[in-house]
Amino acid sequence: MLPALVFLALAAFAAALLGAPHAGRAVTLHLVLAVGAMPLICGAMTHFIPVLTRTRTASAGVLALPAVALAGGVLAVASFGLPGMGWGRYAGALLAATAAGTLLVWSRYRRLRMLGRAHPGLAWYEAALACLVCALLAVLAGAVWPQQWAALRRLHLHLNTLGFVGLTAVGTLTVLLPTAAGRPDPEAGPRLRRDLPWAVSGTLLVATGAAWFSPLAAIGAVFWAIPLLRLGTGWLRLYRADVFARHGAAPSLAAALAGLAFSLLIGAAAATGIPALTPAPAFVAGFLLPLVSGAASQLLPVWLRPGVQGAWHARLRGQLGRHGGTRAMLFCASGVTAGTGREWGLMLGAATLLWFVLQAIAALVRARLSRRATPT
Ligand code: HEM
Repeated sequence: MLPALVFLALAAFAAALLGAPHAGRAVTLHLVLAVGAMPLICGAMTHFIPVLTRTRTASAGVLALPAVALAGGVLAVASFGLPGMGWGRYAGALLAATAAGTLLVWSRYRRLRMLGRAHPGLAWYEAALACLVCALLAVLAGAVWPQQWAALRRLHLHLNTLGFVGLTAVGTLTVLLPTAAGRPDPEAGPRLRRDLPWAVSGTLLVATGAAWFSPLAAIGAVFWAIPLLRLGTGWLRLYRADVFARHGAAPSLAAALAGLAFSLLIGAAAATGIPALTPAPAFVAGFLLPLVSGAASQLLPVWLRPGVQGAWHARLRGQLGRHGGTRAMLFCASGVTAGTGREWGLMLGAATLLWFVLQAIAALVRARLSRRATPT
């Protein structure tokens, strides 16, 4: 299921970016975020929550939740793109909120049943899921409170981007980059514990501020900058060579962190009225694309063949991460150009993503052939 969600997300990203000049903005963004990213993130959580709580793997019912979220995302896109589908936004929000809420309750249940203390990354996932549920409830609230729709829309978009995607990403990257580098970060756990209140309060201030009282949003952006700066400087101290390497997953993962910081910065600048800044395309091209391609380079081998990690996994990981450093630079350039109002920035991101997809398909075909040749 997880490898299928990875490829679905990559296909949705490529289709959305290539079709962006012809489709509406809401269609493009929801194809990327609600059809591509949301089910993949929910799927990744069904894998990581048992790991973080040291409990058994998820049941079939829980593993089906990303598909429910996907159905919600498809309905949302249909509601923006097809005539007569206006009801789809409410049905989609309800379906996706049900999936996210169930995942959150399941995570809390696993936490209660586990022995010992949960990994601090779990609280980041739970906060992210709570943001997604609230963001989707904001869409539903628009049906009964139409005069507040403009504010609820801003609440929805910030709770989703900074809250749901941002919190999941930072909680995951903190552990994933050291794993990709092959050296643990002794500061990761304490930093996750210390920084969650900053990130959560930053999200809430940005979202409510953008919706109702803009000075709060500026304070929220400063709050969010604290965990991003701490993580970034920690990485530069411990993993500088991996971050600036030519190959591997680490450069893309580091580029994703830089992309998130850049989107936050230009989001704050755009809110003060500086024209020609477009945070949403920067978020997609500079943050989401390197995040998903970098995480896929590191995680696809273990998701394809769970259990003891051997030479097959290392070889596939090496092939997926090949030229990761060059792609990271292209994603950074794409984020900066897309975020400063140049339409070709998104196309650069799409081309770089397509390069990764073709490389991944070639690597998977080779890995499949070598697996057939060497039975375990
Ligand atoms: C699956 C259920 C979802 C529904 C029903 C939904 C619904 C909506 C609606 C009705 C709007 C206002 C569109 C407009 O102004 O034309 C909107 C905007 C937005 N949503 Fe969602 N959404 C969903 C999921 C998501 C997710 C998962 C994300 C991000 C992770 C997201 C991010 C955004 C963004 C960034 C905007 C602003 C779009 C723009 O600036 O044009 N949405 N959403």
